[in-house]
Amino acid sequence: MVKTVIAKAHTNIALVKYWGKKDARLMLPQNGSISLTLDHFYTQTSVAFDPKLKNDQIYFDDHLIPAGKATRMTKFLDLIRQQSGQTAPAIVKTANHVPTSAGLASSASGFAALAAAGSRAAGLNLSPTELSRLARRGSGSATRSVFGGFVEWHAGHDDASSYAEPLQDPIDWDIQMIAVVLQATKKPISSTAGMARVVATSPYYSAWVKTAHRDLARMRKAILKKDLNAVGRIAETNAMRMHALNLSADPAFNYFTPDTLTAIKVVQDLRANGINCYYTLDAGPNVKIICASTDTAAIMAAFKPYFAADQLIVAKPGPGITITEA
Ligand code: DP6
Repeated sequence: MVKTVIAKAHTNIALVKYWGKKDARLMLPQNGSISLTLDHFYTQTSVAFDPKLKNDQIYFDDHLIPAGKATRMTKFLDLIRQQSGQTAPAIVKTANHVPTSAGLASSASGFAALAAAGSRAAGLNLSPTELSRLARRGSGSATRSVFGGFVEWHAGHDDASSYAEPLQDPIDWDIQMIAVVLQATKKPISSTAGMARVVATSPYYSAWVKTAHRDLARMRKAILKKDLNAVGRIAETNAMRMHALNLSADPAFNYFTPDTLTAIKVVQDLRANGINCYYTLDAGPNVKIICASTDTAAIMAAFKPYFAADQLIVAKPGPGITITEA
């Protein structure tokens, strides 16, 4: 009997970022990171291992991906086969509930969902920690998408010690993110290649690792105290330092577009006018605003002259992974 397992994983946005590996094969990061899982954006993936198949078949939103175009996923399925003893090829159907080409960290929710559905379909029954470790091998940020709310990924020093765990879930205070979805342009460089170049060439990299450790300690405290301003301030500074690494790489690169800078300026102006909001950015042009839901209307109004209403998506803290057997 072929067993089909479906998993749903939400994306997460890092407040203290992961930007660099110390072991690319095991996907061990240079520093720990802390994120917020979001309710609005998720990936749903079903996996079934079927001995009748000749090769892995991977569908994205009902389209079969040509063989050779999904090697990152088939390699990940190989890892699951290796860990479980399962030998059959798999059929994978995945749907991203993220606005098209918004670039909102779909590898985080994508590999977390694939790890959960794939491991269970292969006959493994992993604990949340084991699942987080497995998801890490697909994409670093996926390590955190196993859990809901505020999540910390411990950098660790080997496969067993590098995993995420919940810091605060559920979140019983008012914090949310508004994603400002900007015109998709071709990424100058993938996050995997970008962070590798930074580690290899930025003269500031060791300073980043040092400040990231400090940011982690301060962020844990801010979350514990439910202090939106502290969370926002630490996240904003941390994000800009990550982007400063990119500017200091050789060759330099950045993910900003003119609209990115406009959105940052709107946040800064709002703050100058007494609205407590902060921004963070990942490996793409989109800006995520960290704020309280009580300020949603004021923030929307300030963005209105520059961006269309459908470019602003309000996301609340989201849940951890769910797994169902079909
Ligand atoms: C800027 O997890 O996409 O979003 O591990 O190479 O797949 P790989 O990279 P990825 O990098 C995410 C980087 C980030 C920061 C973060 O999520 O912590």
